[in-house]
Amino acid sequence: MKDTALTPKFPQMLHGGDYNPEQWKDYPEVLRRDIELMREAHINCVSLGIFSWADLEPEEGKFTFEWLDDVIENLWQAGIRVILATPSGARPHWLAQKYEEVLRVDTNGVRQHFGHRHNHCYTSPIYRKYIRIIDQKLAERYASHPAVILWHISNEFGGECFCPLCQDAFRTFLQEKYGTLDKLNHDWWAHFWSHTYTDWSQIEPPMHIGEGSIHGLSLDWKRFVTKQTTDFMKWEIDTVKAVNPDIPVTANFMEIYVYGLNYYELSKPLDVISWDAYPEWHIGWSDTYPAIVASITHDMMRSLKHRSFLLMENTPSTTNWRGISKHKKPGMHELSLVNAVAHGSDSCLYFQIRQSRGSCEKFHSAVISHTGTSNTRVFREVTKAGSLLETLTPAVYGTTSPAKAALVHDVENKWILDVIQGPRNDGLDYFGTLFRCYHYLWQNGITTDVVDQKADFSGYDLVILPMQYLFQDGVQYKLRVFVQNGGTLVTTAFTGVVDSHDLCFLGEDTPEKLSDVLGFWVEEVDALYDGEKNSMVWDGKSYDLTELCEVLHLTSAQAEATYTSDYYQGMPVVTCNAFGKGKAYHVAAGAPQEFYDAFLARITDGMERAMDTAVPDGVSLSWREDAQGKKLIFVQNFANGERSLTLDQTYTDLLTGEAVSGDICLGAFGYRILQA
Ligand code: GLA
Ligand code: ZN
Repeated sequence: MKDTALTPKFPQMLHGGDYNPEQWKDYPEVLRRDIELMREAHINCVSLGIFSWADLEPEEGKFTFEWLDDVIENLWQAGIRVILATPSGARPHWLAQKYEEVLRVDTNGVRQHFGHRHNHCYTSPIYRKYIRIIDQKLAERYASHPAVILWHISNEFGGECFCPLCQDAFRTFLQEKYGTLDKLNHDWWAHFWSHTYTDWSQIEPPMHIGEGSIHGLSLDWKRFVTKQTTDFMKWEIDTVKAVNPDIPVTANFMEIYVYGLNYYELSKPLDVISWDAYPEWHIGWSDTYPAIVASITHDMMRSLKHRSFLLMENTPSTTNWRGISKHKKPGMHELSLVNAVAHGSDSCLYFQIRQSRGSCEKFHSAVISHTGTSNTRVFREVTKAGSLLETLTPAVYGTTSPAKAALVHDVENKWILDVIQGPRNDGLDYFGTLFRCYHYLWQNGITTDVVDQKADFSGYDLVILPMQYLFQDGVQYKLRVFVQNGGTLVTTAFTGVVDSHDLCFLGEDTPEKLSDVLGFWVEEVDALYDGEKNSMVWDGKSYDLTELCEVLHLTSAQAEATYTSDYYQGMPVVTCNAFGKGKAYHVAAGAPQEFYDAFLARITDGMERAMDTAVPDGVSLSWREDAQGKKLIFVQNFANGERSLTLDQTYTDLLTGEAVSGDICLGAFGYRILQA
């Protein structure tokens, strides 16, 4: 399925990344050599200006763009395009020194000193005033330059500010949302412990030194932080778009584990989705786990706009911020790039093009290391990646593969799971449940959208809701219609417990809990200690059960497996309920990967997948539909050893042009790209 180009001025797979020439202004020879090396590495685009504010406006109102003029012009002459950043990710000293309000206040109520980055107050009118000035000047000077293809708004938005300005804005947000304190007190259940609010001014955000027991407040605070961050981002977008509306905008997101902001909301004002992927490769005997985390995030990024996206940052080899800075072993970089493309990326961009000489990122790897040479393994691997992307452009640029499966990852649900008390404060394995449900789909190339509860489910055949404790308003209606019309729904333990305010649903079997669709109601949830197990036999095989065990009362569902021990021995664990033309399944306890693999193999029977074959452990299939509507299949081996599989038909190898059929064998980090 071909979509429009992400960057219409340069409709190509992008290869390049963050480039910080402001650090090298005193080294003209280095800057000149960088461009030669970039060309050698098949780099066609760089991101500029992300942290350049102090070099663009060294004093208030004094602007020095000349160095950037030269850099952009030299890149353009060499055929290298520019993703231009707004510099709000890090402020200059003079701004913080003169206007304290631009600095954040932390959860202990302490105003932070100057330092680090990504830590300005999103509400501060002063910050907004000064960022507007510099953004506007950048746009006026460069937005019509032929080299500039995309805006990179700020850098990795995140974090919270508890300053008086943010607190005031929070109170206004609540007044608009609730109208009256009576409604707020009810929806937050604030009569509890005498926390009833009698004046709006009494409301403070949840802070270490303050409120922490009103969970509806915690949820609304997180919603506010996303709203305020989005508002700040829009402020910047409006500024640059006012000058030239034709340059698309992106903001670089982070991985699925970074859920401080709700990307389903933050993505709305953006034209292009992009994210920074730093999987922790080589941490175990197989790279399957980091590959799953990367792939599910790729799928989430693709699902935000249902189109291809940009891999805005990844490391050519190692990061510098983990406990141990492990290299990507030879071949891993190429495989991880293929994986990104397989799940919908139209780029491979790096942090960073040239390694900085000093300060805290000097040991983060780069395309060009301190040696300044192309004679390195990393440089050669990067160069190979660049040629691969050139080959891939005509085949897949701007395409996706239509998803018939949806995995629900609602960020608000994760926020509230993190603050509630009970049933397991020692850890609810939310992401583990998500990944276990995803594994079979990932392995077999059943394209899966990763969506929130606000999604439209009507186009899917399968919707999985892992541990969706919080039901957003109206999701019950959508799911009921989905199953009624023939869809297959899968829910897991601790789903549908509270409404969007974190208020528990009342009653036994109620439509609010989806009891009619699921065919049961939950009496109680037992929590298991770490290491404690129950078990079940499903389809002739025994599986351990951990973490949570729900005690169910079936109304119309059939039990497919029952608990083998404890006082709920013999009571249902896996259930199936026929509802309308569809079916709703429930897994009432923490179940292992092997169970979900077998279970999903059965219920996805007949759904489109990359190819019809048995896929060995550690191998993942994925596909994109090319411009002619044909499948381009990516076979990827993360097993760290040889793996073989039998092709279900004859394919053409995209890279060699050869016809391939029968058995193929992939070495460690091996892959094949096959055209149907
Ligand atoms: C993030 C940032 C970059 C850089 C890298 C290092 O993704 O956006 O500026 O610090 O991390 O991995
Ligand atoms: Zn603030």
